[in-house]
Amino acid sequence: MSQVRVPVITIDGPSGSGKGTIAKLAAENLGWHLLDSGALYRLTALACQRHGVDTQVESAVERVAKHLDVQFVPNEEETQVLLESEDVTKVIRTEEVGEIASVVAVYTAVREALLQRQRDFREMPGLVADGRDMGTGIFPDADVKIFLTASVEERARRRYLQLKAQGKDASLAELVEALAARDERDANREIAPLRPANGALVVDSTHMSITQAVEIVLEEARKAGLLV
Ligand code: C5P
Repeated sequence: MSQVRVPVITIDGPSGSGKGTIAKLAAENLGWHLLDSGALYRLTALACQRHGVDTQVESAVERVAKHLDVQFVPNEEETQVLLESEDVTKVIRTEEVGEIASVVAVYTAVREALLQRQRDFREMPGLVADGRDMGTGIFPDADVKIFLTASVEERARRRYLQLKAQGKDASLAELVEALAARDERDANREIAPLRPANGALVVDSTHMSITQAVEIVLEEARKAGLLV
């Protein structure tokens, strides 16, 4: 019996490149499912913190990743993220949790523990997946692969404006420094380093609006025959 092949669009790139927003809008436009893979690393990080697990011990973090009790509840505004039934939608977006996420993400055992969970998002009519290794490791057979970048200054500026809008204190210089350090860790780790997948379209969003970037994704989908 032949199985129906579910189409996938992958959007990989560094923090602040806009991939989360663009993936969400593209998925909405297509009426497809969405995988925010970064959220799984962030949830693993938060669960370690909540349970007092030492993030320096790979096997301990692996156990947490394997037994993550999470739910993604789609809402009109945003997808609600529940960890052990608690709403952590906002908490997982903090800089602190993002930092810990990039630490636990270097462990092979943790990445393996999260692998199937990510592939399970691939359901009809299709999936838009965003992260670091969606096109290289998780969905190598994806129909469309995008690698979205932006200069570190522009990415820091976007994050700065976001924080300000939330009434939070932020220093642009510190954000540039933190993003550069995170890029370095994500790009130079041994397993699943951040890099464009073979055949990926590299899109620099530094001087682009969100709408323009979404249009590019949809145009690629059209070219690949995914839209009727
Ligand atoms: O994309 P986001 O900022 O939410 O990801 C948080 C961290 O999780 C990243 O800095 C990266 O280290 C890790 N990550 C990863 N692979 C993914 C998605 C995120 O290693 N597919």
